Amino acid sequence: MASLLHTWRLSFLLVVALIGKATAAGYSTPVFQASAWQSAFATFYGDETASETMGGACGYGNLFSSGYGTDTAALSTVIFKNGYGCGQCFQLRCANSQWCNKGSPIVTITGTNLCPPNWSQDSNHGGWCNPPRTHFDMAKPAFMKIAQWKGGIVPVSFRSFQGNGYWLLVYVMNVAGGGDIANMWVKGTKTNWISMSHNWGASYQAFATLGGQALSFKLTSYTNHETLIAYNVAPANWQVGMTYSATVNFH
Ligand SMILES: *[C@@H]1O[C@H](CO)[C@@H](O)[C@H](O)[C@H]1NC(C)=O
Repeated sequence: MASLLHTWRLSFLLVVALIGKATAAGYSTPVFQASAWQSAFATFYGDETASETMGGACGYGNLFSSGYGTDTAALSTVIFKNGYGCGQCFQLRCANSQWCNKGSPIVTITGTNLCPPNWSQDSNHGGWCNPPRTHFDMAKPAFMKIAQWKGGIVPVSFRSFQGNGYWLLVYVMNVAGGGDIANMWVKGTKTNWISMSHNWGASYQAFATLGGQALSFKLTSYTNHETLIAYNVAPANWQVGMTYSATVNFH
């Protein structure tokens, strides 16, 4: 009996943030440490569609097509750090406010914009992003994951990640159409398969040390539970924001 062969042409868009510094020895040790929780405040901008958060000082353009989605924030000058905060990953949770969502859920956001100071507003009354305040002006959907929007401004705890590696976000486009992805793994030439977690839409994330390594991807289909492997989709000199394509077969 002839086996059915379904061919997909997949594109993998790599959106990557460096976490901490790579050592001179390379990227051999996947060490991820979260910093201690620190205090800050958070507000939101835009509406539920987060359309107003598109573009921004980090130059990412459309955050949907560049893979960031709506879990983003504009950072006050203190954490924007002249652009070094761009692409930096933070975990945030609402702290000690009647407006916090139940259970203090944690949201992981990416810095994609600058929240500029406004010196015509008092730093404690509207000028939330004025130095020396540490402030996250979040896309509204991200804010609503941690607090009720009616709160307007809420105190938050936040932490960033330190270590030798990357936060890797991969946005998968199935050019041929058809079939959903249930699970996804990434593998560098020097690593085993690393499970990726679903971020939003067709994007998957992993914390890994993958610099200088060709990347392979393994996927399972949601509809027919088949597994496919796309070897060496991205070459060892892969770059952030690039799209790499592979033709893979389900069979
Ligand atoms: C700065 O604050 C003033 C006073 O609230 C406001 O009128 C102005 O639009 C603000 N500027 C910006 C760039 O948001």
